[in-house]
Parts: sequence; C-alpha cells; structure tokens
Amino acid sequence: MTLVRRAALVTVLVVLAAVLTADVPRGVTEKHTVTYDRYSLMLDGKRTYIWSGEFAYWRLPSPGLWRDVLQKMTANGYNTVSIYFNWAYHSPKKGVYDFSGIRDVDLLLEMAEEMGLYVIARPGPYINAETSSGGFPGWLNNDPGKARSDAPSYLAAADEWMTRIDAVIRRHQYTNGTGTVILQQIENELFATGPSQQRYMKRLASRVRADGITVPIFHNDVARNGYWVPPGGAGPLKGPVDLYAFDAYVGPQRCDEKAKDAPDFGIWGDVGAKASPNTPGFTAEFGGGWFDYWGGPDAYECLAAEGAGPGYERVFYGTNIANGLSIQNFYMTFGGTSWGWLPSPIVYTSYDYGAAISEARQLRPKTTVMKQLGLFVQSFSPITKLTRGSAVTPSSSKVKVYHDVNPDSGAHLFVAMHNPSRATTDDSFTFPIETRDGAYEPAVRLDGQDAKLLVADYDMDGQHLVYSTSEMVTHFAGTALFTGRKGESGETVLRYASAPTVSGDVASSYDPATGDLRLRYVHGGLREVKISGGGRPPLTLLLTDDISDMWRYDTAAGPVLVSGPALVRTAAMEGSLLTLTGDTDAPASLRIWGPAQVSRVLWNGEPYAGKIAGPSAVTLPQLIWRSFVPPLPDDTGWQVADHITTTATTKPPAGNPVLTADDYGFHQGDIWYRGHYSGVRKSLTFRFGGGGAGLLQAWVDGVYLGQSVVPSGVPAPRRLATATFDAPASAGEHVVTVMVRNNGHTQDMAADEAHKEGRGLISTSLGAAATWKIQGNRGGEDLVDPVRGIMNAGSYDGYHLPGYPDSSWATAAVPAATAEPGTTWYRTTFELSVPDGHDASLGLTIGDPATLRSTANYRALIYVNGWNMGQYTANVGPQNTYTLPNGILHPRGENTLAIAVTSDGGPGNGLEKVALTDLGTVRGGVDVPTVPAPAWNQAKWGLE
Ligand code: GAL
Repeated sequence: MTLVRRAALVTVLVVLAAVLTADVPRGVTEKHTVTYDRYSLMLDGKRTYIWSGEFAYWRLPSPGLWRDVLQKMTANGYNTVSIYFNWAYHSPKKGVYDFSGIRDVDLLLEMAEEMGLYVIARPGPYINAETSSGGFPGWLNNDPGKARSDAPSYLAAADEWMTRIDAVIRRHQYTNGTGTVILQQIENELFATGPSQQRYMKRLASRVRADGITVPIFHNDVARNGYWVPPGGAGPLKGPVDLYAFDAYVGPQRCDEKAKDAPDFGIWGDVGAKASPNTPGFTAEFGGGWFDYWGGPDAYECLAAEGAGPGYERVFYGTNIANGLSIQNFYMTFGGTSWGWLPSPIVYTSYDYGAAISEARQLRPKTTVMKQLGLFVQSFSPITKLTRGSAVTPSSSKVKVYHDVNPDSGAHLFVAMHNPSRATTDDSFTFPIETRDGAYEPAVRLDGQDAKLLVADYDMDGQHLVYSTSEMVTHFAGTALFTGRKGESGETVLRYASAPTVSGDVASSYDPATGDLRLRYVHGGLREVKISGGGRPPLTLLLTDDISDMWRYDTAAGPVLVSGPALVRTAAMEGSLLTLTGDTDAPASLRIWGPAQVSRVLWNGEPYAGKIAGPSAVTLPQLIWRSFVPPLPDDTGWQVADHITTTATTKPPAGNPVLTADDYGFHQGDIWYRGHYSGVRKSLTFRFGGGGAGLLQAWVDGVYLGQSVVPSGVPAPRRLATATFDAPASAGEHVVTVMVRNNGHTQDMAADEAHKEGRGLISTSLGAAATWKIQGNRGGEDLVDPVRGIMNAGSYDGYHLPGYPDSSWATAAVPAATAEPGTTWYRTTFELSVPDGHDASLGLTIGDPATLRSTANYRALIYVNGWNMGQYTANVGPQNTYTLPNGILHPRGENTLAIAVTSDGGPGNGLEKVALTDLGTVRGGVDVPTVPAPAWNQAKWGLE
C-alpha cells in the first residue's frame, strides 16, 4: 500500500469510527473503504473505473420515474450516478426544509443502491446548473453576508443546508455499509480564491466531516486551473479536499459549430496529473451535451445526433481514457425539465441538454456508445492503472494513436483517432503493436468523427487476446463481445497452444509457430464464432456492428448477456429460471448467453415462448377549452412596499422605495404592484428585473399601457430592462398596476453576488412620489401548497389547480385569434387511457413545432394537474413541445390542464393550436405512482 493510499484509508476509518455508532442500523456490521492512488479509486481495495452520468432528481418531479432513468443508466453501462442536490428546491424559507414527496432524496439514494449504482453526491451549497440563483434559496437574497465567502450570516445559512443534506447522504454512504455514496463534492467551480474563500472552503470541509461524511471529498475546478488541489498537489491553490476534479465542455455548443480538437496528453492528462499527482484523473463534469437558451436555435436534437453525438463521445471520452482519467462523469446524462421556476435566466423549460437519455426518457443512439464504453471500462480491468506506453507512429499522418500500458498485467490499450481529432475524413492506416506476444501491424479505418479503443496482450477469462481491431465491449467466462463499424474489416487474434476448432462466419487461420489464431471478417450483423480446443476453455466470440439491443447483467449465477428487446431493465437467476424485465418498441425475440443452466425465461412476468409483443397504439384525446379573463387585481391584503434598504445589488435611487420582490418574500413567479400617484405625467418609466425573456405589463387607471420583454436570443441574455409608456394626460389621482414575470435569478458563478440582482420593479420615474403595494405568490415564503413546493409557487390565484370551479367560464376556441391584454386563463380536463403495461411518454405541443419562433407575441404557462410544467414564449422560442412526466400526468385517468396566456392583446397574439403528443411509447416501463398533490380548495385559495 502506498503512503497516499494508507493516509486516505486512515482518514476514512478515523472519521468513520466517530460516526458509526450513531448511524449504522443494528445488525449491519459490514464496512467498506473508499481509497485511491494516482491511478484510480479503490472500493474495498478493488480498483474501479467510475463511469458516471449526471442526473438531477429536481428536474424530474416524479419519483417513480427516477427509477426509470436510473435503470436506463445501469442498463447502458453506467456504474455511477452523480447528483447535484439543489438547496433552493428544499428550502422555501430560512429554517424550513422539505425532503418529502418529489424531494425525497432518501428514496433516490435507496433506488441507486437497489440498482447497484455508486453515487457522487454534489450538494453545493452552490451548484450553478442553470438553475435560479445557481441553487441558492430565494431567501438567501436577503442575507447581507456575501455568498460563497466566510461572512458569518452566509456560513450560518450554508450550515443549515449542509447539516440537513449531509444527514441524508451520510445514511447512504458506502463506507457505512448502508448505501452507495462513494464521493462528495464541496462547492462548485469556486474560482474566487481569496483568503475569505479559503476560510469558507475549510469551513465546508469541516462541516462535512463533522456531519459524518467519511467518503473522500473534492471540489469541481472550472477550466483546469489547478484550484483547490489536495495536500501534495502542485496546483496554484491548495484546498481542504482529498481529490482534485475538474470540468470540461470542449465540444460544440450549437449545431453550426464544428467539434473542437481533442486536446492530447499534454493538455488534460498532464494538467490534472501535475496539479494533483497523487490522485486519480477525475472529470467531475465532462460535456454530455450543452444547454440551449431563450431565443436559441433549438439545439438539442442536433447536438445529440452530431455535435455531442456518438462520434464526439468516442473521440473525447476516448481521449480521457487514453489520458489515464479513471473517474469520468458526464453532464448531463438525463437533463430533464426546468419545470416551474427552476430555470436560471439563461435557459428555457427544456433542459434536455442533447444528453444520452432525452428529456422524454428516450434512449438516443449516443446512449449505445455510452454502453459500449461503459461496459468496456468495467470489463477491461487493466484500464484502472494506465501508464503511458511508447510512442506509436501510424502509417498515416492523418491519424494519431495514443498508447497506454498497465504496468502490472502488461496489457496494452491503443486509442486511435484523426489528427487533428476534429477531422472527419475516411482514413485507413496501419500502426505497429509490439507486445510480449510479438510485433504486429494491424490495419484500421476511421471514417468520419470516430475513435477506436483497441486492446492487446490481454488475458481474458482463460483466453489470451493478442490484439483485435474490433472494440471489446465486455467478456465473461465463455463469452466475449466485440463491436466495429458496419462494413469495416475486423481482425481478432487469440493465442492457443495448438490449433483450436473454429465455427462461424469468419475466415480463420492458425499459425503453429506463434500459436496465433487469426480471425478475419467484415462487421455487419451479429456473428457468433465458437472456438474450442487449443488448450483453452471454449469461447463464444460475438462480433457485431450494433449493440443497441444487447444488455449485460450480473446475476447470482454469473453474468448474462441478452439481445433482442429495446431495453432490459433487470435480470435475475433463480435455479434455472431467468427473470427479465424490460421494454419493447417493436416485437422482439430473445437470445441469451451466460449461465448454462437457463431453461426457462420470464419476461415482464410472462413465460417467454419465442416472441415478445411490441407496444399497442396510444390514442390521444382532443382538447376542449374554457377560458376566463380575470379582472386586474385589487390590492386588499397586499404588503406595503415601504422598505428603504435592500441587499439587492440593484438599489433604487436614494429616497425611493425599495420595490424588488425578494425584499418582501416573493422569490419566484409573477409579481404584482399597485401604485398611487397624483398629477399629470407624460410618460412612465419602469426599470425592472425579469430574468431571461422576462416581461413587464403596465396599466394606469385600469387602461393597458403596454408590455416590455427582456431581450434574449444571445447566449448570455440580458436580465434587466427599462420600459417607458405614454401616461394618461388627465390630472388627479391615478392608480398604476404593474405585473413583472420573474424568469429566474442570475447565477452567482463568479461569487460576486450576482444572484442578488433585483427582480420585479427596481425603480420608476415616479420616484418617491408614488406609494406602492406588492404581491407575489400566495403566502410568499409560507407556501400555501408545500406539496408542489417552492418551484411551483408563482401565482396568487388558484386557477391552475385541479378542481378549481370553472363551470361558469365560457367555452373557448383554440387556436384563438387574439387575447385580452394581460393574462387569460384556459382550462380543460381530459381522460387518458394508455394501455396497462405500457410506458407512454407524452408531451404538449403549442403552435407549430416546425418553426423556432412564432409571429404571435404572447407567452403561456402550462399547468398539468396543478404543476407548472413550463413556459412557452411564442415569439422568443425556441421550445414548442413540453414533456409531461407520468406521475404528474395521469396516463390512465383524468387530467386537468390549465394554460395562462399573457398577451399584449394585439391581432394574432392569442393561444395557438394545442395538442397532446406521443414522444415515445414502449410496452414495459416501471410502476409510476401518481404524485399526490392537493386540488383547489376554497379555504386556501379563496374564489377570485
Ligand atoms: C459547469 C457547472 C454546471 C453547469 C455546466 C453547464 O461549469 O459546474 O453546474 O452550469 O457548467 O451546464
């Protein structure tokens, strides 16, 4: 054991001893260790490659579907899930925390354990993540202490969160023997590095340890600065952490950008290694896509297919592997939905991210590459300890080949890609392999954006692989699976003491001088090659060009490989019975390799008899609408806006009232103001904070003046705007009514208090001459609907809720020619009857999905059974289709849909066509309980 490993182990055990008694359930005596050296993490001393995907439970408000996503990750080769825990999501008010229902992170961590997924816990306190305030709760805006510093009031607030979330994480630590959390992050991309931040980081580390977290801790360094490196590191700034991790987003962020060049060893491998030579190469986040923005290009599908698609994954993640990184987390793997008031000002509702698993929970082709690489890094164990091999010069200068060697086993890894890596030409080449088996010069082809991870001199379950130009996916006793690109030649060389017998559709030759059995073939379809004799156990070598319908699981009777269905979720062996669950998107048949004793198969509870059915068609109802235009609100019961000081960074001119909404406890959603002034004003000017594509509407004496939208359409949209309207010319007393839609607080990325930028009105041309009242979401920080929670709390009325008495509302035609200026509510109820045993992922489409932006000037909040599932901004765009997660949506029952249309009243500016959309239906799925949530009731919401 190296000194470093021993030191890490001692730390883990010492802290463990202090907390074990309090936390480990009776009877649990098993304890585990998480240690590391410069090469990899070791779990109970076993080197483990961490292949992790980022998943945000708070962007999927349906715990039943957490299981769906986690199972899809497990099935697709991930062994770890990385989770940001969002402080704001759990805390509507200082001192108030909620971990129930959609916020039940205990349940989430239990599910991860149930699936055998390790967890990287990332509870902030600051997370960024394109969520409002970067995850800081709204109430923190009123804290005078500088966030992400050692200001006492901020530290007290951060302590509040950390102690609560740590209490949950601690219960699920691998080190306790009661869960699978193996690592914990403190802070995120803290690139302010002054003495105050250094004290803050120390405080976070000691907080986490005092809270009983015993797994190694790390920070996520932006742009590989070498900040917050552990003791023994050489980065410019040491931190109170065990591991050094960084994030990298190197790919294109839009469809019209070309993939950047994959930096080679000199950039990632060496920087990480030099910054922290004693800890494993660790990307806390590596781009699994990128986010799109208000007014953006609707980038997700094209990012997923091309920019950050299969070729990108092979080139960039392959480069990381070649660089010896052994902990890779991909942000995002399932992006989900920034529902309600979750979005930061940058992003719109969909946080699909172009990730491997789409927002509608569909497996994209890029998921198959994740499966290939994920299964490979877990099957090819030498990968957890790589040193750089001798330089390899391929026959073509258009290609480069990285070469690594495991110093213990002597196995070799070659990673071949274009030179430069962004090239997409079709290049055939050879490269020299020199191993203990001899010298070879195999031929390889790289056609388009691609990289190949090839293995040589490798002992494999009693076999010896000399090399292969096909890529190893996985292997276990008796079976090995290799893949290649359709139509490309492949060559696999295995070594035997004497000539073995080979059957299958390959050309084979045996060289008695070397003992090499050479197999030649062209990739296409699934080939099953049987090799026996030759002094080794029999081998079924599977050669394919497509593993999208192949699934590997470990069962009590050993590994099993299944092909056929669109997804295998679980596999278990009992005696000779193999029990499988999964999904089909078309009729399928099963092929099974693995435990010899399988004689019977159960598929989703039914005996398998040669065929599994595909899904039945789902019929979706037409929507029939009622609508209502509420009168402008009066201000009975509203707060007087009489504060004269504010912690907002946007202060009104001296002597003017503070109007910013956070000062009055309204942190998200629509904010209403009523002001009184007298005399004639030619015009009225309002400075306001609306966040991305935020909006202000104004009326004087009940007459609509107009609206102003915060400009967007650039990657860094503006968040503040100034609106000027002509005012009525009459003298006397006037009442001005203003509504500001707050589309989120700025993130505090640079630790400069950016989240304290004001929302709502900041100042007006009426100055101190007007008196104001303010109202935001009903109850402010004291939620009237704690079940749906703070991110749903943006409205004052109850029109969005199921059960609201709308029978007196007029029937309404949709599409509508226009709308009243202000907000018009539409409501409908409809029945869904998705067949039993089916998982239909449904969405709602407004307007024409073929256009990025409509010519209509209005926006719509979409409420499904009372849940705010997103905001459509017709002429800002680009989103038309909103994913409606089951659990929130009732796929077999009644649903209430409410849409709040906010328009300027101009011609054409009314609700366009609205339709339910099928985003993907399979037979299968998981059990998704309805998320219980209250209906409207008069006592709470009153009648408007
Ligand atoms: C990273 C940050 C994440 C997220 C990501 C972009 O720099 O750590 O929280 O914001 O960028 O999606």
